[in-house]
Amino acid sequence: MKSQLYAPSLLLYISLLLELKDVHASLSLSVSGRRREVYAGLVKRGSMSGANLQDSGDLDYYTNITLNGTQNTVLIDTGSSDLWVAGSIPGAADSGQTASVTYAIGDVHGPIKFANLEFDGYSVENQAFIEAAVDASHPGGQGLIGLGPNSGSEIHGQINNPSGDAALDRIFRANMSAPNILTILLGRSDDPSEPFPGEITVGRTIDGFENVTSQPKLSVRTDSDAVDQHWQTLTDKNGIIGPDGQPISVSSDVKGAPSGQLVAVFDSGFSLPQVPKSVADGIYGRFPQASFQNVTQGGIGLTWTLPCDIEVNITFKFGGVSIPIHPLDTNYDDGLMYPNGTKFCVGAFQPIQPGAESSEYDMILGMAFLRNAYLLVNFGDFVDGSTSNTAAPYIQLLPVTSPSAAHNDFVAERLGGKDTGQDFQLLPATPGDDDDDSDGKSFSQKIKRYLPYIIAGSVVVGLLLIGGVTWCCLRGRRQRYRPLHEPAPIGATYEHQPPPFASYQPSRRY
Ligand SMILES: *[C@@H]1O[C@H](CO)[C@@H](O)[C@H](O)[C@H]1NC(C)=O
Ligand SMILES: *[C@@H]1O[C@H](CO)[C@@H](O)[C@H](O)[C@H]1NC(C)=O
Ligand SMILES: *[C@@H]1O[C@H](CO)[C@@H](O)[C@H](O)[C@H]1NC(C)=O
Ligand SMILES: *[C@@H]1O[C@H](CO)[C@@H](O)[C@H](O)[C@H]1NC(C)=O
Ligand SMILES: *[C@@H]1O[C@H](CO)[C@@H](O)[C@H](O)[C@H]1NC(C)=O
Ligand SMILES: *[C@@H]1O[C@H](CO)[C@@H](O)[C@H](O)[C@H]1NC(C)=O
Ligand SMILES: *[C@@H]1O[C@H](CO)[C@@H](O)[C@H](O)[C@H]1NC(C)=O
Repeated sequence: MKSQLYAPSLLLYISLLLELKDVHASLSLSVSGRRREVYAGLVKRGSMSGANLQDSGDLDYYTNITLNGTQNTVLIDTGSSDLWVAGSIPGAADSGQTASVTYAIGDVHGPIKFANLEFDGYSVENQAFIEAAVDASHPGGQGLIGLGPNSGSEIHGQINNPSGDAALDRIFRANMSAPNILTILLGRSDDPSEPFPGEITVGRTIDGFENVTSQPKLSVRTDSDAVDQHWQTLTDKNGIIGPDGQPISVSSDVKGAPSGQLVAVFDSGFSLPQVPKSVADGIYGRFPQASFQNVTQGGIGLTWTLPCDIEVNITFKFGGVSIPIHPLDTNYDDGLMYPNGTKFCVGAFQPIQPGAESSEYDMILGMAFLRNAYLLVNFGDFVDGSTSNTAAPYIQLLPVTSPSAAHNDFVAERLGGKDTGQDFQLLPATPGDDDDDSDGKSFSQKIKRYLPYIIAGSVVVGLLLIGGVTWCCLRGRRQRYRPLHEPAPIGATYEHQPPPFASYQPSRRY
């Protein structure tokens, strides 16, 4: 049923690069050394143990890599699997082949070249990457590193042998004694406790957060088509706790998913999590001050909005572990104002945009979720060339948000330091919501309703982010998956662009 809904291929047309232009702004973002209050006895962050990230307005997280000694600033993206940079890399060897990756927002194409990569202290000789031409959308020295499974790599698909493997596969294969793990900890720029930008490590954990490895191992749910694989797992039953402390009733649209659980993808390239409409309603629809409306500013379109001083507490559960979400992440301040000058905020866990839809998962937990959990992905036998008896891949999540500290942050940041308490009653849960998504027809109708409004982009031009992604089947012989990025709720500047669906092909998948 959902297959008909596939991929109204992404939206937006904001070029990848609008966003990348902002890297410059983020470079000057000073990182203060204030303390981060962490959960459950986690120690204060010590010296950095991995590659530092830069946080651009909580909408983009970048790190630096070098290729043949040339430094490049790349977006970290667990939703795609290719490395590209814009600008020529001195001495890079040309493979004679080209590759393209189409993202929801923008795309990239160019010759596949090889150069010596340095990333997180690792050196990889002859790493394959796409060398894109520099243009307004692809500023020189910038790019993206895909951290998804190798099976999703366009370059690997083209080269078709291990020399075309994705960077992490190369690192894992070069050092069999190191675990096949990737870990990511994202910071929050408006966290009064510590605007920590974030950190990424390969083959080891971040100092002070070692016991992520003793968290429950969440098995990676395999896609029905292995080349469409994402880092995805199941939520617990009753695994989304709403603002009243009660579970939000859910129902998966993924074939074969257990009743009452949802399939969630962890994607560091998506700023606003994409959740089923009934879940977004269960989170925000309970607040009398919230409204699901057409936000014309920036061309955002239909979305939940609410006053910025509403504290929305929600919790996700995976493997029996509760992950409280910081209220600064649920009620997202993107600097929006009504024409009369009144500020308003946006529900960050937004109804999944049709462009981000797939029959393989129900939701995409992007940055606003990942700021609350230290993510470890063990690639297991997803590493190219690994023997079939290598362990299965799994995901571990360590909660890092303390509800009481987060509440204090919210009071300081949004309530001017005065904990006035929230003196409103939540509206009753809408009984009808529960079944919305269990009925394929109504779901499909719902999605159709949204088609015209699909939006993306970003409200604050300049905070624009990488958008969702697209998979493109260049070779026609093999379906590859689309790296996911942010389709952004917030759409904006693309009114003057070609309609996003011009290239919609129902057969394409995410
Ligand atoms: C990346 O390199 C730039 C330029 O050297 C530097 O300003 C920035 O802090 C670096 N970013 C990270 C995350 O190390
Ligand atoms: C760049 O990388 C390629 C491939 O690894 C290598 O053959 C070449 O010697 C390198 N050139 C420089 C200048 O580092
Ligand atoms: C291989 O991994 C081990 C364990 O993480 C590490 O101590 C060692 O330095 C790594 N070797 C190389 C060549 O990266
Ligand atoms: C993590 O380690 C700390 C200190 O050893 C311990 O107090 C805490 O319970 C551990 N947390 C988990 C989830 O294992
Ligand atoms: C939202 O407003 C924009 C701009 O006025 C308009 O183009 C669009 O059709 C509206 N969408 C809906 C669902 O009303
Ligand atoms: C400003 O406009 C919004 C939306 O129309 C409205 O909800 C709000 O009450 C207005 N504020 C003032 C101070 O008029
Ligand atoms: C949100 O959670 C915090 C910490 O548990 C609590 O102090 C606060 O009252 C809660 N706020 C609302 C509106 O439920």
